[in-house]
Amino acid sequence: MPASNMDVIVSLAKRRGFVFQSSEIYGGIGSTWDYGPLGVELKNNVKREWWRSVVYERDDMEGLDAAIIMNPVVWVYSGHVETFSDPLVDCRDCKARLRADKLVDGKCPNCGSSNLTEPRNFNLMFQTHIGPVQDESSIAYLRPETAQGIFVNFLNVLTTRARKLPFGIAQIGKAFRNEITPGNFTFRTREFDQMEIEYFCKPAQASDAHNDWIDARHNWYLNLGMSPANLRRYEQPKEELAHYAARTVDLQYRFFPEREGESAWDELEGIANRTDFDLMAHSKGPEKDGKRINTDSTADLSYFDEEFKTRFYPYVIEPSAGADRATLAFLMDAYSEREGKEGDKRVVLKLHPRLAPIKVAVLPLKKNKPEIVALAKKIKNDLQPFVRAVYDDTGAIGKLYARQDEVGTPYCVTVDFDSIGEGKEAANNGTVTIRDRDTWEQVRVTADRLREYLIDRLLK
Ligand code: GAP
Repeated sequence: MPASNMDVIVSLAKRRGFVFQSSEIYGGIGSTWDYGPLGVELKNNVKREWWRSVVYERDDMEGLDAAIIMNPVVWVYSGHVETFSDPLVDCRDCKARLRADKLVDGKCPNCGSSNLTEPRNFNLMFQTHIGPVQDESSIAYLRPETAQGIFVNFLNVLTTRARKLPFGIAQIGKAFRNEITPGNFTFRTREFDQMEIEYFCKPAQASDAHNDWIDARHNWYLNLGMSPANLRRYEQPKEELAHYAARTVDLQYRFFPEREGESAWDELEGIANRTDFDLMAHSKGPEKDGKRINTDSTADLSYFDEEFKTRFYPYVIEPSAGADRATLAFLMDAYSEREGKEGDKRVVLKLHPRLAPIKVAVLPLKKNKPEIVALAKKIKNDLQPFVRAVYDDTGAIGKLYARQDEVGTPYCVTVDFDSIGEGKEAANNGTVTIRDRDTWEQVRVTADRLREYLIDRLLK
């Protein structure tokens, strides 16, 4: 049973140190969030799993980490200066700022008034200035997507890594958008992490490569435990497509389960066929349909096919995911409640072990028995080079289990009198208890088998 609405997760996230409001002691700042001790582990695990799946587990991918501030001309030729905008209207009655394309029946969602200004385009890129003089010539932008850093490095990667088509480049990094209507916790913020792939191929390969990436990306979420009932594919209709896209399929998550029908779903990741738009746009002086001549680029980003002795601009398939949205979706999906032994409500976060912020909590049954504490700390120290493990003696064992369930720790290891050879059952001497988060079942394992037992289950 995933979270019944996002508020449940907002409350858990604050209570247990996943996500805090940014600059909270100064009253916060709109739609900006800080990841706390457990949130940073979870989000890092999401990014690590993505990187492992799209770079390490494939033969046709390379990685990249490009700069956030790029030559501003990049954003002219990418189309962002001209077209990366939302239509903005103001409500003359309640003064709310609204996105014209999100209005229902042309009315202000705040006060119901139809007394709205004419829509005007509002560019979403954050501007800054390079150097001490703040004038037109020093304007630069915080990147609104990581993708362009990949396109302008296409030739660098192609030549330094001796690649042939098809191959792709993956990148994770911050993107910034001055969203008019941010909100819904970390779903839409002004600063977020993207996980983007630009997969370069021959035009004739594009359709199959697109379908393969849609399957691969869909399966990635499922393999990390996301419920199939909460994840779906959405084929963007022609009128929704971005100017560069021939076809886009979104992976949508049921972010708003409390809402009816279509409005329960929203975008988690977009997978677009961007055709040859990008490499052509950034190339020195190409011409298409008699327009778009680049007079600033110093490079031709076309590709020479040795086999067919032809030169062309590669097509690009772009799976573009948000690390913050993925983290939020995994959190919502993992949320569950069950009855505790005393009839109390217990929250259990059933995160996939690979995503769990803490993998193992080592708990001493008695914190005033030095041999038990020493063994528990030793077990924690032996595990920590391999997995994130913690030692906790700040409460009674039942309370410690509950606390770990609530943050998604897959296994608790308890050190008791049997573990130090002072138990009632001789057969249990030298064993510790391993408790499973999802079944609450406990097994006894000898301390020397512990690492193998846990690592087998945690990294599968
Ligand atoms: N390069 C293509 C591109 O940027 P996009 O659909 O605008 O496409 C891709 O963004 C992904 O980035 C989205 O599916 C979403 O997960 C994430 N994203 C976009 N805007 C966001 C925002 N304001 N806050 C959080 N995540 C965002």
